[in-house]
Amino acid sequence: MTKCDKNAILIFKNYKALGCFFGYTGYNGIEVPLTTQLSEKMARQLLIAGNWKMNLTLASSLELAEGLKKAASGISNVDIAVCPPSVYVQPVAAVLKGSNIGVGAQNAYYEIEGAYTGEVSAGMLKDIGCQYVILGHSERRNIMGESSEQVNLKLRLALAAGLIPIVCVGELLKERKANKTVEVVCRQFDGSFSSISAEDMKKCIIAYEPVWAIGTGEVATPEQAEEAHVEIRKMITKNYSKEVAEAVRIQYGGSVNDKNAKEILAKPNVDGALVGGASLKVEQFMGIIKSA
Ligand code: PGA
Repeated sequence: MTKCDKNAILIFKNYKALGCFFGYTGYNGIEVPLTTQLSEKMARQLLIAGNWKMNLTLASSLELAEGLKKAASGISNVDIAVCPPSVYVQPVAAVLKGSNIGVGAQNAYYEIEGAYTGEVSAGMLKDIGCQYVILGHSERRNIMGESSEQVNLKLRLALAAGLIPIVCVGELLKERKANKTVEVVCRQFDGSFSSISAEDMKKCIIAYEPVWAIGTGEVATPEQAEEAHVEIRKMITKNYSKEVAEAVRIQYGGSVNDKNAKEILAKPNVDGALVGGASLKVEQFMGIIKSA
């Protein structure tokens, strides 16, 4: 398939995603010509990242990496990454070296080095072949009590180390029920990205992960995901500029699988997925990648 063919398919997907050809209202409420919408979404290549969490063994990590490497070879219209547990990052990175699959970590500490028993720095992760790092995942925020201020410190060091940060935000079920989704995500956004320059902001990826949808099998509807992503893009516009907002990729995360991915990924402001459970099986993860 030529690049032109791929672009044609992508354009077709976007046409379908928009639901109609004309008169679409952009995320800021302004009517956007179709060509502009297409170029914006096309400019943001989707990123499908697998968050392996605290799963697998060394042997099964390597097997999964080998399987994905083979199955995903030749795919260039989507960025792909896997985030193994930190102890498996280096061997998995060695398997995936030279492939189209990047490797990320699931966390990094907010100091450069020193007496911080049990912690791993962003510089160390870069050193062993990491390209991405997930920061502020809801499991870290809610189980380990990580604050947005800590996420902010981690983010600065990740950027300084040359890692691509995937910063997670998302509301709890009770917060959604209380109509506080935007308020909560806005607070997490403000804290996590405090004093981050526009140049650095453009290097960041945001993952919107409603906590009630993580690992529960209860996925947000494509409309709920799109609505939250639009709000996040508005926050970036307000804090930075429209240009920065258009450059930043916003992934959706929360029970994404090979059955529901297509509809979610087709939404104009959804720029990929952060996948937990369904990233642990080659077939399921490839199903998501192929529906992008
Ligand atoms: P899930 O996890 O796909 O298993 O819901 C997503 C995540 O926590 O990143």
